Amino acid sequence: MNLLVVNASPRRERSLSRRLGAAFVAEWLALRPHDGVVQRDVGIEHPPLLTEAWIAACFTPDEQQTPEQREVLAYSDAAIAELARADLVVIATPRYNYGMPAALKAWFDQVIRIRRTFRFDRAEKTWPLSPLLSGKTLVLLSSSGEFAFGPGGLRERWEHLEPHVRTCARYLGVADGHLHHVAIEYQEFGDERHSASVRDALDGAQELARRLARSEPAPGVRATG
Ligand SMILES: Cc1cc2nc3c(=O)[nH]c(=O)nc-3n(C[C@H](O)[C@H](O)[C@H](O)COP(=O)(O)O)c2cc1C
Repeated sequence: MNLLVVNASPRRERSLSRRLGAAFVAEWLALRPHDGVVQRDVGIEHPPLLTEAWIAACFTPDEQQTPEQREVLAYSDAAIAELARADLVVIATPRYNYGMPAALKAWFDQVIRIRRTFRFDRAEKTWPLSPLLSGKTLVLLSSSGEFAFGPGGLRERWEHLEPHVRTCARYLGVADGHLHHVAIEYQEFGDERHSASVRDALDGAQELARRLARSEPAPGVRATG
């Protein structure tokens, strides 16, 4: 199998979401040492933001695209090809301003591409799911300064990270039961609740890796909150 790991934190050694991602991958490789792991570091190397030229290129049939238009779409082409090769996608990300960091949103903007990864179906009055990640699994590993973003939690109404990633993932073909979320919380507090959250999330990420690597059913996990 091929794993694609998308890291979205601009922090390196201090990043908690990167720690979760590393723990997941290490556990996975302990069970499946011959699997491939590709790293796409959008937190350090930002995907380009969309431009008018990008949009125009997207809507231009392939055979009519100019060399400049093909160049404008080169990042998107490479990122989509990477996703297509992945059997399992791991997104390790901070929560910024209650949602995903701009760099991760920019990556989604590059891979959710009209005429390439989805098409309008006006007759059906619906947007069909893309086959790109159909039947595949997405693991979301997040870190937040605050806490209680889960169902019934104090900040449930401010939770725009998981629902947004879930919607984008669904657009790419990931079924709801195939998205798993493990979260670190309380980073801003730096107290015992945070230490416990880090421990639980590391355990949760490793347990999830073991289950998925053995192809056991894994429930949608939220380690804390
Ligand atoms: C610019 C910025 C915005 C943040 N916004 C939020 C937020 O809205 N809610 C929250 O719970 N934590 C917020 N945090 C805290 C981060 O989610 C937390 O520090 C997390 O551990 C960062 O991920 P990392 O450790 O992988 O870098 C923010 C941090 C920064 C730097």
